[in-house]
Amino acid sequence: MDKFVNQLKIAFASQYAFAIKAQNFHWNVEGPDFYQLHQLFDTIYTEVYGAVDAFAENIRKIKAYTPASLERFSALTAISDEVEVLESSAMIAELLADAEKMQEIMKHLFVQAENIGEHGLSNFLADRQDAFAKHAWFLRATAKA
Ligand SMILES: [Fe+2]
Repeated sequence: MDKFVNQLKIAFASQYAFAIKAQNFHWNVEGPDFYQLHQLFDTIYTEVYGAVDAFAENIRKIKAYTPASLERFSALTAISDEVEVLESSAMIAELLADAEKMQEIMKHLFVQAENIGEHGLSNFLADRQDAFAKHAWFLRATAKA
C-alpha cells in the first residue's frame, strides 16, 4: 500500500508539472500557427488543472496526505520541467511525449487500484488515462506534416 500511495503522489505531482508545462507553452508559443497552438495548449492545461483538486482529494480518501508545494512537486514529478523557450514544433513533440507518459502512469496505477478494491479511485484513474489519450491525439494530429 505504501508503494502504491507513493506512486499515486508521483502521478499527482507529474500531472501538476504537465499542466504547468502546457501553460508555459500556451504563454510562450510563437510562429505562424500561434493562435491555433495558443488555443490548443489552453484547452489542454485547462482540462488538466480541472482534475487537480479531485486527484488531491482521491489521495486524501485513501488516508494519505497530498503533496502540495512546489518543492514536493519538483522532487516527485516524472515529467521534467522545461526552462527553455522552444520552437513550436519542439513544444508539440515534448508535450506529446509527456502526454503518452502520463497515459502509461495512469494505466499502471489503475491496475493497482483495482487490485486493492479501490474502485472509485480506479475509475478516476481510468478517466485520467482517457483524458491524456485525448491530449496525445490532439498533439499527434497537430504534429503530423
Ligand atoms: Fe491564457
